[in-house]
Amino acid sequence: MADKMWAGRFSKEVDETVNAFNSSISFDGRMYRHDIQGSMAHAEMLGECGIISKEDSRSIISGLEGILSDIDSGKLEMDMTAEDIHMFIEAELTKRLGDVGKRLHTSRSRNDQVALDIRLYLRDEISEIMTLVVKLTETLCNMALKHTETIMPGYTHLQRAQPVTLGHHLMAYAQMLVRDLGRLEDAGKRMNFCPLGSCALAGTTYKIDRNMTAEKLGFEAPMANSLDGVSDRDFCVELCCAISLLMTHLSRFSEEIIMWCSWEFKFIELDDAYATGSSIMPQKKNPDVTELIRGKTGRVNGDLMTLLSMLKGLPLAYNKDMQEDKEAIFDAVDNVKLCLKTFIPMIDTMKVNAENMRAAAAGGFINATDCADYLVKHGMPFRDAYKITGRLVAECIDKGLTLETLPLESYRELSELFSEDVYEAIRLETCVRERKSEGGPAPESVLKQIEITRNQLEAYYE
Ligand code: ARG
Repeated sequence: MADKMWAGRFSKEVDETVNAFNSSISFDGRMYRHDIQGSMAHAEMLGECGIISKEDSRSIISGLEGILSDIDSGKLEMDMTAEDIHMFIEAELTKRLGDVGKRLHTSRSRNDQVALDIRLYLRDEISEIMTLVVKLTETLCNMALKHTETIMPGYTHLQRAQPVTLGHHLMAYAQMLVRDLGRLEDAGKRMNFCPLGSCALAGTTYKIDRNMTAEKLGFEAPMANSLDGVSDRDFCVELCCAISLLMTHLSRFSEEIIMWCSWEFKFIELDDAYATGSSIMPQKKNPDVTELIRGKTGRVNGDLMTLLSMLKGLPLAYNKDMQEDKEAIFDAVDNVKLCLKTFIPMIDTMKVNAENMRAAAAGGFINATDCADYLVKHGMPFRDAYKITGRLVAECIDKGLTLETLPLESYRELSELFSEDVYEAIRLETCVRERKSEGGPAPESVLKQIEITRNQLEAYYE
């Protein structure tokens, strides 16, 4: 077992089970790069402020560089009996440098160190997630562009309601994703303050320069209060919240895709590379990817609950409960990336069955509102037009007809305002083409939505 750095006060070794229970290296080991990055900035500052000698500062930095490259190359393996990544790296440094290594932790605590490491780590993750969300949004824009005329039923209560186009439908998701980008960006901005120098909780008597480390590490500024610096995990909650909502969007989309590739809908077909078979039923082609995304959304919501519940009763400042933050936020981050990475090519390669979409839109009296609007445009008040159209629909159902096949005499029996051009007015293509209100499904409106979305994406290209 690794020697404890805090062994001085203790007369016994820590129980093995307790040690394993306490240790976090199995999950915080992934932050080694960020831990080293933070330590380098700290060592540099200690040297420049004259708290340790310039020479010691330089040896520490090159020692840390060596450790970094040895972990990267696999030459140095992490000791899984170490308490955490911070202890492991410091112990390794001391093993390599002797007494000089022991100077690194001057005017620092693991409390500000871990708070720093998570921020540095998540900052990188946020930008990776955002890149993927931008890519998905672009994919949707490109696909929508191809489907501005692909008519499909729009639903409310999962009942056919009014005709839209696939392009219009896809752009709804694109807009959700643009809001997700805003939330991720916002979480990143608020996260970008540096806790280093808060030390254990009460700052330090050394003349450190917190602005210097904050700046070296690319933060906006040092955190203003040292107690807050070590106690704050709001940034984990905020990021997890943004991820939960992003997952919720992917999950709703997944649910639709699951329906769309059922035999009942047959609106799309997934590429073979993104579907799976059954071990017993030879005919099956299952949308497992989308179901997993739907399932993982529940898991990520669980991560959010873990974080909120872990924090809600904690007094200031650091409490060991906070070690539980990492598995939850890492799980959320890992899973949303996995989901995006599979979802994007799956969407990109799925085949659209435009005929089936149109056929589904042609049933179910989806143009009834347009029939009522026809009467309104000829001077009838909407409520009366609504009633007459309702009666027309009832008559069609009775006779096994549709509004398109109902003879003109039947129309005129209920209102003299109807003439031959009603059939043109209720054609699905007309219904869609004429819905050119801003944000609507008309091809020209959808083109505008694509343009708006692409402009919004501009802000995220570097
Ligand atoms: N492994 C700990 C964590 O993840 C690091 C901070 C430990 N600090 C302490 N005072 N025990 O939270």
